[in-house]
Amino acid sequence: MPQIRLRKALLDDVPVLDNLIAASARGLSAGFYAPEQVELALTGAFGVDRDLIRDQTYLVAEQDGRPVACGGWSRRRVLFGSDAGGPCRSGGDLTPGRDPAYIRALFVHPDVARRGIGRAIMAVSEAEARLNGFLALELMATLPGVPLYDALGYSPVERHTHPFPQGGSIDFVRMRKDLAG
Ligand SMILES: CC(C)(COP(=O)(O)OP(=O)(O)OC[C@H]1O[C@@H](n2cnc3c(N)ncnc32)[C@H](O)[C@@H]1OP(=O)(O)O)[C@@H](O)C(=O)NCCC(=O)NCCS
Repeated sequence: MPQIRLRKALLDDVPVLDNLIAASARGLSAGFYAPEQVELALTGAFGVDRDLIRDQTYLVAEQDGRPVACGGWSRRRVLFGSDAGGPCRSGGDLTPGRDPAYIRALFVHPDVARRGIGRAIMAVSEAEARLNGFLALELMATLPGVPLYDALGYSPVERHTHPFPQGGSIDFVRMRKDLAG
């Protein structure tokens, strides 16, 4: 059985994570998004946000030393998007106890999908957010991501249509989970 190890992402990981995220989105979005939507999403809506790496809230899952998944949480008021062009990138910080923390940029390589790695990254992210005083979590789910978050107790808040600057759009679902109680 291959060993999975979770660790904090490093800025040096970014080129490898860029490739991993592209492989994940291209390989696991079939039936949910058209290939053109995935390619446009990879120019800004999907990707690495280096702020999370600097904050040490972004995780990499390695299988036998090879990065196979990434994802994390954030105290920053940016709900989704890479630092290459995501939306609303200057919102300040979320307040523990009052605001939800955000789950961000969870991507699993198709070779290792459905083996519990997404669930494991979520468990660590939720635990760290809770340790930092957050009582709820929100995220902008891709349509292929919804079954995972549903299984983990997240509820849909609203459907969101994200317009691409180049034209066209992609649908997401904003979801929330309360940690208190
Ligand atoms: C969504 C994603 C992160 C799930 O990661 P994963 O490691 O395959 O998920 P897990 O194996 O931890 O699944 C945990 C549970 O979630 C649910 N689930 C996950 N993927 C599912 C799928 N494709 N269909 C139905 N249920 C699914 C199941 O309940 C599963 O438990 P089970 O396997 O015991 O039935 C992965 O499919 C992915 O990277 N997708 C492409 C990128 C993306 O859209 N990311 C979400 C960004 S918001």
